[in-house]
Amino acid sequence: MREKIQSYLEEIKSVAFDKMDDLESFRVKYIGKKGLIPALFADFKTVAAEERKEMGVLLNDLKNAVIDKVEEAKEILEGMNEHLESGRDLSLPVNRDLGTRHPLSLVRNQIIEIFSRIGFTVEEGPEIEDDWHNFTALNFPEEHPARDMQDTFFIEKSPDIALRTHTSSVQVRVMENNKPPIRSIFPGRVFRNEAISARAHCIFHQVEGLYIDENVSFVDLKQTLMYFAKEMFGENTGIRLRPSYFPFTEPSAEMDISCHICGGKGCNICKYSGWVEILGCGMVDPNVLENAGIDSEKYTGFAFGMGIERITMLKYQIKDLRLFFENDIRFLRQFESAI
Ligand code: DAH
Repeated sequence: MREKIQSYLEEIKSVAFDKMDDLESFRVKYIGKKGLIPALFADFKTVAAEERKEMGVLLNDLKNAVIDKVEEAKEILEGMNEHLESGRDLSLPVNRDLGTRHPLSLVRNQIIEIFSRIGFTVEEGPEIEDDWHNFTALNFPEEHPARDMQDTFFIEKSPDIALRTHTSSVQVRVMENNKPPIRSIFPGRVFRNEAISARAHCIFHQVEGLYIDENVSFVDLKQTLMYFAKEMFGENTGIRLRPSYFPFTEPSAEMDISCHICGGKGCNICKYSGWVEILGCGMVDPNVLENAGIDSEKYTGFAFGMGIERITMLKYQIKDLRLFFENDIRFLRQFESAI
C-alpha cells in the first residue's frame, strides 16, 4: 500500500491540465466513488495493526493532495478562460525587462554568504539607538573626545537618542540577549552628520562581526579576516594589520588588503602604496563584555566592522560614492549580469 500511495502522490504532483474535462476525469479516477483512493481505504482493514496509524495519516494526506490539486487547477483553468474570453493571448512570451540588484545589495549578500559558510549567523538591530548601545556600553566615556570620531544626528537630548553612527551598537544588544558562544554578523544602515561628497555620505552601510567564546584569540581574528579577504577579493589577496584605536577593542587594528587592481605594485586606487584599507577590528575590550553582562574572566572575543560602500567601490572600481544613492539606471544597469 505504501508504494501505491507513493506512486499516486508522484502522479498527482506532476500532472497538469489544459481543460476542465481532463480535470474532472482526474478527480473521478482518484476520488470518485469507484476511484483509486476509496479502493485504498477499502483495503485499509488488511493493514497490520502496528502500521495502521501511519498508513491512515498517509492515506488522508493523499486524499487531501488530490482535493488541493483539483481546487488549484480549477482556479487556474477558470482564470485562463476569463483571459481567453477577454481576447488576451496567453501564449505570448513574457518580454519584460528584469530588474537588477543594487550593487550594495550584491556585496552585502556576498559578505553574508562568505561569513555564513564559517558559521556566522545574521542579526539586526534598530537604526534609532540610545546612548548606551551606541556609545557608553562600547566604552566611549561621556564627554570623551572619542565620541567626536563620529558626528552624530541626535533625535532627543537627555536621555540621548540618536541615529546609530555604526553597527557596533548591535554588538551590545546581541551580547545582552545571548549567552556565548556568539558568532554573528550584523549588516545595516548607519548615519553620520557629514557633508555629502564623492568619498563621504550621511547615510551608509556597514557589516559588523562579533565572535565571543572561551579562548578566542587574535589569531582567530586574523585567520577569519584573511579568509574573508581572499573570498571577497581573490585567492592572491594579502592582508596586513596596522595598530589603531577604537574605544571598544583592545588591542585594535585596521586591516589593509593588497591592492587587487595593481596586485600591490602601486596604482592610483591604492595611492601607490600597494595596500588599501578595508576595515577596523580588534579584541573586544573586557569592559565592553562586562557592560553587556558577559564574564570577561571566562570569555574573550573579537569584533570587526566594515563599510559596504567602501568594499563595493574597491570591488567594482567605483570612484564616486554618490552614485549609490542617485538611482541612475544607467549606473544600476551595469550590474545586470552580476551574480
Ligand atoms: N565602528 C567602527 C566605525 O564605524 C568600525 C569598527 C572598528 C568596528 C573596530 C569594530 C571594530 O567592531 O572592532 O568606524
